[in-house]
Amino acid sequence: MATPKQEARAAHLRAEVEQHNYAYYVLDQPTVSDADYDRLLRELQELEESSPELQTSDSPTQRVGASPAADFEPHPHLDLMLSLDNAFSEEELREFDARVKRFLELPPEEDLEYECELKIDGVGCSLTYRNRVLAVGATRGDGATGENITANIRTIRSIPLRLPESAPDGEIEIRGEVYLSRSEFLRINAEREAAGEAPFVNPRNCAAGSLRQLDSNITASRRLQSFTYSLGASPDWRPASQKALLDTLQDWHFRVNHERTVCRGIEETLAFCESWVERRHDLDYDADGVVVKVNSWELQDRLGRVSRSPRWAIAYKFPAEQATTVVRDILVQVGRTGVLTPVADMEPVFVGGVMVSRATLHNEDEIARKDVRPGDTVVIQRAGDVIPEVVSVVLEKRPPESQPFEMPTHCPVCGADAVREPDEAASRCVGIACPAQLRRRLEHFASRGAMDIDGLGPAQVEQLIAQSLVHDAADLYDPERVNLAALSGLERLAEKSAQNLLEAIAATKGRPLERLLFALGIRHVGETVARQLAQAFGSVERIRAASVEELDAGEGIGPIIAESIHTFFRQDETDDVLEKLTRFGVLPEPKEPLSAAVEGGAFAGRTFVFTGTLETMGRAEAEAMVRQRGGNASRSVSSRTSYVVAGEKAGSKRRRAEQLGVPLLTEAEFLEMVRQADASP
Ligand code: IVH
Repeated sequence: MATPKQEARAAHLRAEVEQHNYAYYVLDQPTVSDADYDRLLRELQELEESSPELQTSDSPTQRVGASPAADFEPHPHLDLMLSLDNAFSEEELREFDARVKRFLELPPEEDLEYECELKIDGVGCSLTYRNRVLAVGATRGDGATGENITANIRTIRSIPLRLPESAPDGEIEIRGEVYLSRSEFLRINAEREAAGEAPFVNPRNCAAGSLRQLDSNITASRRLQSFTYSLGASPDWRPASQKALLDTLQDWHFRVNHERTVCRGIEETLAFCESWVERRHDLDYDADGVVVKVNSWELQDRLGRVSRSPRWAIAYKFPAEQATTVVRDILVQVGRTGVLTPVADMEPVFVGGVMVSRATLHNEDEIARKDVRPGDTVVIQRAGDVIPEVVSVVLEKRPPESQPFEMPTHCPVCGADAVREPDEAASRCVGIACPAQLRRRLEHFASRGAMDIDGLGPAQVEQLIAQSLVHDAADLYDPERVNLAALSGLERLAEKSAQNLLEAIAATKGRPLERLLFALGIRHVGETVARQLAQAFGSVERIRAASVEELDAGEGIGPIIAESIHTFFRQDETDDVLEKLTRFGVLPEPKEPLSAAVEGGAFAGRTFVFTGTLETMGRAEAEAMVRQRGGNASRSVSSRTSYVVAGEKAGSKRRRAEQLGVPLLTEAEFLEMVRQADASP
């Protein structure tokens, strides 16, 4: 048991430490050295440890070290936590003023008192005090129910754990914003980047993440701050005005933002709002607007609310932020699909509440249009959570030696050709083994319609890449890389599944040429073109040897596709992969190209007409199949027509065939005919 003397000492220490906390965290005027503060806190901690009954929930020792929570409990707010309507212009703010007066039946020329304060871009929180002791700290949640984050709220030194005697005794809800200063945000991000962790995108996200830590020691390390500005449930006390509320909160040792003022009439209010549009950049925290509140509490009561927003307040939002900075370099990033995107690497600047050092330049044409060059001073813009973009170049500041930017002709990641097609804005890397595209290429390679490797989905691909087992699709078949030992080491892959996967991979060796061609992921080579290529050339070797003209001559293959195929097979990277696929026995047996058999082909002398919707192919494709076998394809039915192939919804041509006695085939019958034609020597 503690002696009365110890009890008195503990009470004295609690009061003294909290007084120092207040001076430091609220007033920003430290009254003791850090060492002295630590000594007082340690003495209190030791007293409480030796006599646990001395420990109270409002003791400053409770601001640190609560044991990690399993989850956050829901906390029903006593009073709804409202949100604010927005005004995005002077006009909308004037409309608000007019609306308020109409509702109160006041003459339009009357000047109302508006209390104006900064809108802090942080996380709204509600603090419940019972008998003047902090009982609950909660997030906003959906406005009716939030999450109980009391242990984390306690770590915020500017939030009083106990209210003075002058405060009401019963339950009272005080609301405000928990936020992170810009300097603290930069410090935390620097630390994270040094540790190889992903940085936070802005101070608000960082504050929100910190408040939702299950381990309050992490929250404590983030040095969150607070401003309070409104009142929730308060059965035993009401202020006369918003100004009186803020003054009282200040008396109770809450931290209240000093940038507030009572304006008389809408003109003064507008002037206050305008005055912050530029000045906000000088603050060490993010403010995204000014909250304009009817000052009189009595009028607030009369105005009430519409759904979840008070009629007596509005948030004037600052316009989209722009900033000026210098482009250090123009980098080219390669996306999952091989598209090259130029990106400005800039001197870091704060814009729209975020530290920005990259902005997209979209593509070659955009860069040319804005003529952005390395070394240029540029205006960048960021609105909401949108990726920042370069708005314009400040030409007067252009260095004399600057050179226009040129898009690279090779992929900066793998070195393969980067090709820009006519009518396209984007340049694309054609590298079959490009690391930037590897995941996507492997997923496609294994997919149905392509090689169809059972059990090789996105999750497995991800792991194969993470473990550096494969660097291109051919590596899948390399027994030195992908074997039982290697696969069994993968997360979430039991030995049985590893064995199954190996067998599934092996089973795809020798898949028909059209599937392999499709699987290789050549731009513009979908399943149809792959089938036509396979039929026309019969082997990878012949396709590789074909000129653009020869490729172009193939059925259904135009100049753009021909060019794309040709470029693909001109790459060293493609050669490497094909060499491996050959070595591992993946390539199918070469076949005679059908084009060679056209003359005197199986369909020679026969004319086909296709009508209606075919199920497995387009009409052009079906016609090509006929021509490749020496037959004719026509669009109209006559007595010279040999067959009419009728798909779904076949109409007049089918009737005409019936009238003329031309044999009708179903799609399946036609395909069978093709199969037989191809099978016969
Ligand atoms: S007053 C009934 N004042 O902005 C009025 N809100 O959508 C309640 N906020 O959820 C809000 N600074 O989290 C008020 N000075 C300020 C504020 C402020 C930031 C936040 C608050 C609220 C949101 C409005």
